[in-house]
Amino acid sequence: MGGFPLSHYLELINTVIINKKNRLISYDDSLKLVGTGRSAFVFRMASSEKAIKVFFPDFTHIAQEEAEIYKSLVGITYFPTIHETGLNYIVMDYIEGYTFFECMTHGRIITSDHIKEVDRALSLASAQGLNPSDIHLRNIIITSNNEIKLIDVARYRQVKVCNQWNNLKKAHQHFYCKPFFLKKVPTPFLNMVAYLYKKGFIPFFRS
Ligand SMILES: Nc1ncnc2c1ncn2[C@@H]1O[C@H](COP(=O)(O)OP(=O)(O)O)[C@@H](O)[C@H]1O
Ligand SMILES: [Mg+2]
Repeated sequence: MGGFPLSHYLELINTVIINKKNRLISYDDSLKLVGTGRSAFVFRMASSEKAIKVFFPDFTHIAQEEAEIYKSLVGITYFPTIHETGLNYIVMDYIEGYTFFECMTHGRIITSDHIKEVDRALSLASAQGLNPSDIHLRNIIITSNNEIKLIDVARYRQVKVCNQWNNLKKAHQHFYCKPFFLKKVPTPFLNMVAYLYKKGFIPFFRS
């Protein structure tokens, strides 16, 4: 795989201290925190194009599953390349850009072409026998070159049908694309919409 020797990654990962309440206590100065998910913290390694995803103590079992899925997606440019994996971490390409969530809170336009690109990425993943799931605003990135990258593939082997992407597409077409729709929304508002969606409280998305 390459880049750095495994021991270098391990040294860095061992500096990441996460307590039992999933609070990040400390990490090496050469790491920059770039994202927090529901199962992990993601850091950029200083002066390198690599990101390290370090899983919360109760979620370390996901590392292996997600690493295997990334390996089955190697060669599909819509996904970051994986470089290394261990008991509680994954090292992959760092992706410079904005998640769809950040695009919406910063007022960066998400176009129909971006949506088509996500569709293409997902169909390539499906062609590998995967079932792309958990596709939401924070797991899709528009890079500085205006390309689409998908991250957080841990649930791509689940059997259950996931409708999130179809619902996001509907929302893009029926609301976001309309002239009256504000292209920049406050973060708490977007978090609230996501919360209500998850609870099944938004009638538009009931099937
Ligand atoms: N390879 C990457 N490059 C840049 N940012 C990333 C990368 N992977 C994750 N992130 C950022 O970290 C956040 C959490 O990562 P994610 O893999 O979605 O974790 P979780 O499985 O906990 O949801 C993402 O929403 C994104 O903002
Ligand atoms: Mg995520």
